[in-house]
This record gives sequence, C-alpha cells and structure tokens, in this order.
Amino acid sequence: MTTSEGPPASTSTGRTGRPGRAGRGPAGQPGRQDWSSWPHYDGAAAGFRGYWYPVTWSSHITGKPLPFTICGEKITLIRDGGTAYALHNRCPHRGVPLSEGDQQFPGTVSCPYHGWTFDLPTGKLCAVITDGPGCRLTGKVGVRTYAVEERLGMVWVYIPVADEDPHPIDEQLPEELVSHGFVMGGRIEPRGGNWRFACENGFDEGHAKYLHRTALWRLFKPMPTWNITRIVPRGRWIYRVQDEVHWEAEFPGVGRWSNKRWWKLQPPKETFNLGNTGKSDKIDPTIEAQEFPGFASLAMPGVLRIAYPKFIHYEFYVPVDADNHRYVGVMVNFTEGWETLRFYAKYLGAVRWLFHGQFSGQDAWMVDVTDAPPEKLYRPDISLTAWRNLSEEEYAKKLAASGAPPAPSADSADSTGPADAGNAKKG
Ligand code: FES
Ligand SMILES: [Fe+2]
Repeated sequence: MTTSEGPPASTSTGRTGRPGRAGRGPAGQPGRQDWSSWPHYDGAAAGFRGYWYPVTWSSHITGKPLPFTICGEKITLIRDGGTAYALHNRCPHRGVPLSEGDQQFPGTVSCPYHGWTFDLPTGKLCAVITDGPGCRLTGKVGVRTYAVEERLGMVWVYIPVADEDPHPIDEQLPEELVSHGFVMGGRIEPRGGNWRFACENGFDEGHAKYLHRTALWRLFKPMPTWNITRIVPRGRWIYRVQDEVHWEAEFPGVGRWSNKRWWKLQPPKETFNLGNTGKSDKIDPTIEAQEFPGFASLAMPGVLRIAYPKFIHYEFYVPVDADNHRYVGVMVNFTEGWETLRFYAKYLGAVRWLFHGQFSGQDAWMVDVTDAPPEKLYRPDISLTAWRNLSEEEYAKKLAASGAPPAPSADSADSTGPADAGNAKKG
C-alpha cells in the first residue's frame, strides 16, 4: 500500500506530474522551471545520437592516434594508408587510452601498456605483443569502431543510437555544400558550456543586435535595435524571417536607444532577409538560387547557417559532454579560379580574426556563462522554442524509424512549446 497521497515527488531534475509548465521561480516571477516539455531535448545533454559530427581537421589526423570525446564517447582517431579510423579509446585489458599508444604494424594501433594490438577497420584484437604469437584472446575481443567520413576538410564520426548503420553523411550536410564547388575557411575550438546553449545562442533572435554591437566585425555597420521575426519551417530547416527591423526605439520613461553612430553606414530603408546588416546590390548566384526564406536557419543535430549576400557562414555545435562542446565555424564562398585567392586573403586577413575570432568569442563567452533552466523566456525567444520543438519532433521520428524505445509518455511531451514565448508578433 502506498502511504503517499500528495502530489508526485519531484525527481532530481525537479520534475513533477505536469512538468515544464510555467511556474513560479524563487523570486516569485513566473517562468519555465525545466525543459521536461521537450523530453528528448532535455535528455540530450551529451548530444543527440544517430548523427554525423565533425571532430577535427583532416590534416590533424595522422598515424599518431589522438583522443576526442564526442557525445560522451571517448574516441581515438588515427590515419592509416590515407584512411581515417575511429575506435573506442579504451584498451579492454586495463583501460588505458589507445590514443596514448602508437602503430607497430600497418593497419593497426597498439596500446602502450602491454602491446595489445587492434585491427583498425574492425577494432578486433589481432596480436598481443607481450603474450607471444599464440595469444588465445586474439580475434575474440576488440574495441568498438565508428563510421568515419571526410567532408569540408574535416573528419566526421557517426555516433550511433545503437548498432545501426549510419545514414549517408551527405543527407545531413547543408544541401548547397553537397551540390556546389566552394572555397572555405574555418575554426574548430573546444569551448566551455553545453552544446545546446551554443546552438540556442547561434539561432537566438535577440542577442546579435545587442551582444555583438561592440564587435569590431560590426565597427562600420549598425545593428538593429529590435525586430519582429517569424519562424518558417522548410524541409529539415527552420528559418528566422524578419518582418520588421527597427533601428532605434524610444523606451518609455527610460530614453532613446540606437546602435546607429556617425561613423557607421546608414541602415537600409527596407526590411531584408540576407545578412544581418542590410541588403547588397550583388548577391552570389548560388546563394540567390537557394531562395532562403530568411538569413538564419538551423537544422538537426545543431547546424546553423547564416546566409550573407556573398558568403555563407555555418556553425556546427558538436556535443562533448554536459559541460563542453566543440565549436566548428566555417565560412564558405561559392567561387572558383582567381576569386579563390581573394577569398583566402580576406579570410586569413580579416574574417578569421574578426568574425571567427572576436565576434564569435562574444558568443563563446555567453555560452560558457549561461545557466538555464530555469528561465523566463521573452518574445524573441520563439527562435529557441522553435528549435527545441524541431529537435524534439525530429528525434522522436528518428527513434521511431530506428525501432528504438518509444518517446517518453505523452503526459510529459508538449509539442506546442511554452506559452511565454509563443507569439511572433507583438500583441
Ligand atoms: S592496458 Fe592496454 S595492453 Fe594492457
Ligand atoms: Fe552571436
């Protein structure tokens, strides 16, 4: 017999019978106490499994094994005969990381401790140097291997849900990168903070105009003060579409605020949806042909696309563990021939330092210090809730298709998103 007649007890994450609803925070303000209305998203602190993730530059992977953590999995990457391999980074003998070892025979990696030697394509133990040729364990034990692909000059690893075969990586890359030639520059950086904060920051409607107003990258271009934005789904992406852009505002009882300055260009008169500072006369034909509904778009498993008139900037937020992620920022120009040189000069001379450096560093700072939930969302946060809804739906579909356990009970699922950030328009 149960003796409890009160409400269900809270778990360590604060869940109760109707979790994730607006409640009252410690200071008495209404707010969202947890993310349990997005159960898959809430549970994805270490990332969504069942996707390809970029790990590092291809040129960094050589015959010397290197350690990485992706979605909480310890992995070692090594190259042999031109092919990159990924193995679970733990020797089954005594748990020493294989990345501490090296190659003693072609096509293998050897643990540094007792010389257990693993076949790279299969992960099977193929020799034990300190047990002589007759070791009875060979072929019987091994380490997990991971599917590897190389795209955009990077090594990508598939982190499976269970033991399934990976989907083709090209299905997951931004479509325009699969079907067109391009030049690119980029930055890969380990950063503090959960990958979901990084992803939410990337698509966050409100912050760029305010946080980045001091970025050198924006020294001569004003940023708007506030916008009216809609979220538009298309294919596997969601887009931020700007219906109104306001360059200044009078805040009752407080004063006037604008990011316009005498040394900055004048803001454009009309609303625009390519780039975040205004229109351009010349738009790259490949970018124009995509007919993006809005300049910022986001797709699973955390891929951000910011389309400018002449280039596209991508961010891949790669889960490491609950408190760390890898930031992969890539700038792509759909040019060939001599124009390529101009791109590299511009990238190395300015973009790398100003955009992928200082500008993006402001994001890294915020991601590292964000502490949510609890949270009290505001109107522009429709960008966040739309992303959480998207990831929740896409992941439920993926699990259903893979035959994995069903989604958490409908009681805790809420696909409508929070009431406190559901309006695109001001009332
Ligand atoms: S711990 Fe790896 S060989 Fe002993
Ligand atoms: Fe930002």
